[in-house]
Amino acid sequence: MPIHVLSIVGARPQFVKAAVVSRALRARPGLKETLVHTGQHYDDNLSKVFFEELGIPAPDHNLGIGSGSHGEMTGRMLVEIEKVLQTEQPDWALVYGDTNSTLAGALAAAKLHIPVAHVEAGLRSYNRAMPEEINRVLTDHAADLLFTPTDDASQNLVVEGIPSSAIHQVGDVMYDAARLYGPAAEGRAALLEAHGLKPGGYILATLHRAENTDDPARLAVLLTALAQAGQAVVLPLHPRTRAVLDATPDLAALANRLTLIEPVGYLDMLALERSAALVFTDSGGVQKEAYFQRVPCVTARDETEWVELVELGWNRLAPPTDVASVLAHMHAALEEPLPDDDDDLYGGGQASERIAAVLAGM
Ligand code: UD1
Ligand code: UDP
Repeated sequence: MPIHVLSIVGARPQFVKAAVVSRALRARPGLKETLVHTGQHYDDNLSKVFFEELGIPAPDHNLGIGSGSHGEMTGRMLVEIEKVLQTEQPDWALVYGDTNSTLAGALAAAKLHIPVAHVEAGLRSYNRAMPEEINRVLTDHAADLLFTPTDDASQNLVVEGIPSSAIHQVGDVMYDAARLYGPAAEGRAALLEAHGLKPGGYILATLHRAENTDDPARLAVLLTALAQAGQAVVLPLHPRTRAVLDATPDLAALANRLTLIEPVGYLDMLALERSAALVFTDSGGVQKEAYFQRVPCVTARDETEWVELVELGWNRLAPPTDVASVLAHMHAALEEPLPDDDDDLYGGGQASERIAAVLAGM
């Protein structure tokens, strides 16, 4: 009997991670995967485009949960994931990252005594005001197998008393994805051309973190700084941010000075990242993708889980307190020489294969 792994995904970054892990699980003899989509993200440009472009298998179960408050969403997911777990009786539940879909999957499985494996374990911001921090801490402590991306993440878990036998430092699956799909993104110039963007001549921005979108003062600082940066700025708008701009004319007026576009697929995103002079973001994944392409990054947050990039100098933290300080970070990132890099930070691009090998050996 193959070892049955039930993977639970629901939000955009989880589709990118599952694309490479699912591929590795299905390629390894002795493993069988069932894929569950909670439906946390449901717009075509946040979900369907990733399944199509990245060749992710169609989900075996689509729970259609949709949006809601944290409690509503997580509660509905718990009910529906539990039913699927009872029907499928997997050997492992595999969850990714730090969204509400991650926590619901881990909690539902742990209560049914189904072992939980967590991809991207051990990341910490040490900021409990972030919903993601609650999700990742609780998931790590419900998990039986913890797949960490970095030295820092492994160390965080050891400090929290997680047994080292449960921790497998495999590298970052997002690095695997950037390597696997990078060639397909090469030469994708249509989006740049459509918006008059010259390679090396624009800033790519993404903003969706609740601490920024739900605080008008912070969002105003960020949009003003981007508009004053002295370069073209392209901003694929996350629906959370779009909703705030639609409801707030003053912020919309600031944002309209930028090139606002719909969320793009992963291949277009890789192409936009690769040719940017600077990446400006509050995304977890995009911070690293900038480094994978050796493009400097400014992160619009008070802290980051990916501390190694700040230590190396490829990423700068710019807490959005005032326009001048955010602009100073952007100018430094644009003007100062690029720092040295370190090829070993995120593993060698075999994180997914390592995850499959560990699960197959269980
Ligand atoms: C979620 C994750 C966040 C992750 C992000 C990736 C949680 C708590 N947050 O944030 O960690 O970085 O995904 O993108 O799990 N919406 C749509 N269409 C969709 C999905 C959402 O319009 O397909 C709108 C809805 O108005 C919704 C809002 O976006 O209320 C926020 O969606 P939600 O899934 O709650 O959180 P994200 O901000 O996407
Ligand atoms: N991404 C994308 N299109 C976009 C914005 C992001 O394909 O318009 C990709 C990005 O390249 C990365 C992932 O989505 O692989 C990151 O997701 P997001 O920023 O939504 O979430 P986070 O990483 O912050 O949890």
